Amino acid sequence: MHYFEQHKSGERAILVHCTFKSLDFADNQNDLDEFRLLAISADAQILGEITGTMNKPSAKYFVGMGKADEIAKQVAETGAEIVLFNHTLTPSQERNLEKILQCKVIDRMGLILDIFAKRARTYEGKLQVELAQLTHLSSRLVRGYAHLGQQKGGIGLRGPGETQLETDRRLLQVRVNQLKAKLAKVKQTRQIGRAKRTKSSTPTVSLVGYTNAGKSTLFNALTDENIYSADQLFATLDPTLRQIDWQGVGKVVLADTVGFVQNLPHELVESFHATLEETLEADLLLHIIDSSSPNMHEQIDAVNSVLHEIGATAPVLLVHNKIDKTKEKPTIHYKDATTPHRVYVSAHANLGIDELTQAVQELLVGGLSDFHLTPPYHAGQLKNALHELGVITHSEFDDTGHEILTVRLAKDKLKELLGKYHFNAFDVLPPHEANSLLPVLEEFEKVNIKPNDDNNDELNPFCL
Ligand code: GTP
Repeated sequence: MHYFEQHKSGERAILVHCTFKSLDFADNQNDLDEFRLLAISADAQILGEITGTMNKPSAKYFVGMGKADEIAKQVAETGAEIVLFNHTLTPSQERNLEKILQCKVIDRMGLILDIFAKRARTYEGKLQVELAQLTHLSSRLVRGYAHLGQQKGGIGLRGPGETQLETDRRLLQVRVNQLKAKLAKVKQTRQIGRAKRTKSSTPTVSLVGYTNAGKSTLFNALTDENIYSADQLFATLDPTLRQIDWQGVGKVVLADTVGFVQNLPHELVESFHATLEETLEADLLLHIIDSSSPNMHEQIDAVNSVLHEIGATAPVLLVHNKIDKTKEKPTIHYKDATTPHRVYVSAHANLGIDELTQAVQELLVGGLSDFHLTPPYHAGQLKNALHELGVITHSEFDDTGHEILTVRLAKDKLKELLGKYHFNAFDVLPPHEANSLLPVLEEFEKVNIKPNDDNNDELNPFCL
């Protein structure tokens, strides 16, 4: 049994956004651009916008009497079906406004819930949305919407199911309890799944970020899975998990999460705790940033504060996305000599994915690579050093009786050892592995000294 009507799309809407003279008023932080995106995400057709500045909200209509008249006039002129407020309204303010405006009124929380309802794809997501909607609407159900005549459904009143707004609140409570029980069960199943993954020590990488930053696009690029992605907010509602074999990194579980918004009502953070739980247990967080957004810094702060609020402790790699728009170069920026901090990519234009892979590899596995070393007979000291470091993972002999050691260590460390014991990488490693140490060689080539030139042994980077 569900309590919400399926949505119809394209409702004609007027947006209302006010600023308050007192700066510490919470609703002052709600952004008008984001509000427009939210309205579009909810399939609203924006007919007009009304803005205003006031000292504080009025008890009866939230806005003052004059502003309420101005909205009513615009509703009548445009034939709008709904007025969306970028603020939190009390049930009685909504009721009073609906009477005077003669159309449906939805506040910011109702709007966000509506978007969640539309995007819920999985069983758990649907349960969460229905629970949050019921909780939000239960205080508003008493009004019954009778004064709005036929105007049922649409934004704020849709979700998985039919509308029964006159339903007894006692029945609602039964449904709320059912939903909570079901969610608890789903959560338990998820925990078992997580325990299994922990056992197999597959690292989890979670994609987090402000809504519309490009998480789903990057997730798709990395998984080749074609999940829903669109230029709308909240294209992703549920944590979407994929186990991938990330070339250059190894097996990881990749988790896509719901987008953050500024000022997400606290009740919603609670409702979507399951989504965020995935984030809490991740080994690495990729914080996806829309670097083309004029509000980039505020968005980064908004995400950071939510991560802080939920107690996420995993290392974070900042992934600046959409560099095809900003013309930045695909690069990795390091916090210190070895720890990647930021990487610049475009998920859409497939730029910087190699850099991202390298940064993730360095953060997850500490940049360790496998090398196949064929030490000459006089390499006793080098072999001892490798033994002492405990980096030899395998040893075998080829047909000609030469020993081949498989060693796992950072490139820089191998370079240092080869240099210390005077070995040329091309003499002891297969060519492609010696080549992988090339960035250092290129530096030498810049000064016209060939790494393999016998006359320049003294300057060979591996024979320092
Ligand atoms: P939510 O699910 O709302 O949190 O969004 P999201 O972060 O998953 O964003 P999504 O992947 O849905 O991308 C949002 C929009 O940005 C889509 O229209 C993408 O096509 C676009 N987009 C993603 N990456 C890039 C990029 O690198 N460059 C450009 N120009 N657009 C991009």
